[in-house]
Amino acid sequence: SRKYRPYRPVQLADRSWPDQLITRPPVWMSTDLRDGNQALFEPMDAERKLELFRMLTEVGLREIEVGFPSASQTDYDFVRRLIDEDRIPEGVWIEVLTQARPELIQRTMEAVSDAPRVIVHVYNATSPVFREVVFGQDRDGVMAMAVRGARQIRELAEANPQTEWRFQYSPETFSTTELDFARDIVDAVTEVWEAGPERPVIINLPATVEMSTPNVFADQIEWMHRNLSRRDGIVLSVHPHNDRGTAVAAAELALMAGADRVEGCLFGNGERTGNVDLVTLALNLYTHGVHPGLDFSRINDVVRTVENCTRIAVHPRHPYVGDLVFTAFSGSHQDAIRKGFAVQQEDGPWQVPYLTIDPRDLGRTYESVIRVNSQSGKGGIAYLMEREYGLAMPRRLQVEFSQVVQAWTDDTGKEVRAEELWRIFEQEYLVL
Ligand code: KIV
Ligand code: ZN
Repeated sequence: SRKYRPYRPVQLADRSWPDQLITRPPVWMSTDLRDGNQALFEPMDAERKLELFRMLTEVGLREIEVGFPSASQTDYDFVRRLIDEDRIPEGVWIEVLTQARPELIQRTMEAVSDAPRVIVHVYNATSPVFREVVFGQDRDGVMAMAVRGARQIRELAEANPQTEWRFQYSPETFSTTELDFARDIVDAVTEVWEAGPERPVIINLPATVEMSTPNVFADQIEWMHRNLSRRDGIVLSVHPHNDRGTAVAAAELALMAGADRVEGCLFGNGERTGNVDLVTLALNLYTHGVHPGLDFSRINDVVRTVENCTRIAVHPRHPYVGDLVFTAFSGSHQDAIRKGFAVQQEDGPWQVPYLTIDPRDLGRTYESVIRVNSQSGKGGIAYLMEREYGLAMPRRLQVEFSQVVQAWTDDTGKEVRAEELWRIFEQEYLVL
């Protein structure tokens, strides 16, 4: 694998100030096959789910929510297939979601019987609107629902010791729940599960619908981090959605505020505006000098697989992975990039201007880095001519030739690729 090179300006950040930087990667959980899948026009069939599951494990995800088996027969059958066909690699935990209702918990536990390692994820909504409008219950009623569910899961798990179990609870709508009630319900659930350092459980705090600026969400996470009774027996997880477009920021600030784990989807698939994008989060860490523990060194394959499985295209300007992110159309950018490449050392920190990461770290090549259109200047043209044809143009020729190319692009309105540049050059200077 390639030598890992963070972007040089990260040195500007103050590492002695812990809440300015994330210093270690979180535990990652992919919910592509659950939250991601339930948000598709056409949910994935078993073959596409299997393909995505395989790719997620190859990327290095170790916790993968594979479905909601009590809510869908397709999910139930898929979970059974993973288990019966022995498709869960060593070290990978499958996770299944269930509401805190006795018959649904029962069915969920049947769906995962004989699996090697399972995270059972039970949830109920806790916010005042849900309590009053949806459940018609007071705080005690909603808490009793969660506690009963936690107890039932524990009993069923203990009756099936051949599986390695972990328990997870989510107070759905956490970010619009009163904090003291969120703490009380989590304390009650972790009491049932006897959470402790030897027996850690996952407490997942969702911004089910993103309603605030990310600092507010992070403050809520910090409050929970400081006030939960059994904090040392809890893996504190966040599950941001992207309704305000700030899910990545919310997750990052939450990690700085005490969270240990993040749930999300590749490229931000998921309900409505999506779950937090795990790829952007991971690569933001990478460029800041923290290896995320996920392998995106063949990002184009990851994009293709996700697009094929979800039938949703990744935006061309998606951070790190979009088709256009390693292109520069403007002349001044191209010039700076060209100069950066000229001095970039193989083992030195990455410091090519305008590019936050070496495209090769993602398995992308320099091929598409510089493209030329009517906004470009001589820098990009000179770079392409030298790289593709070994022609180092003197400065005056660069200026002159860029005018010729400019006329061509103004005329055609098109982008010029390297072969076209050469053809224009030949026609202008070489053909008698
Ligand atoms: O967004 C949400 O609150 C969820 C829960 C089920 C965790 O997806
Ligand atoms: Zn969600």
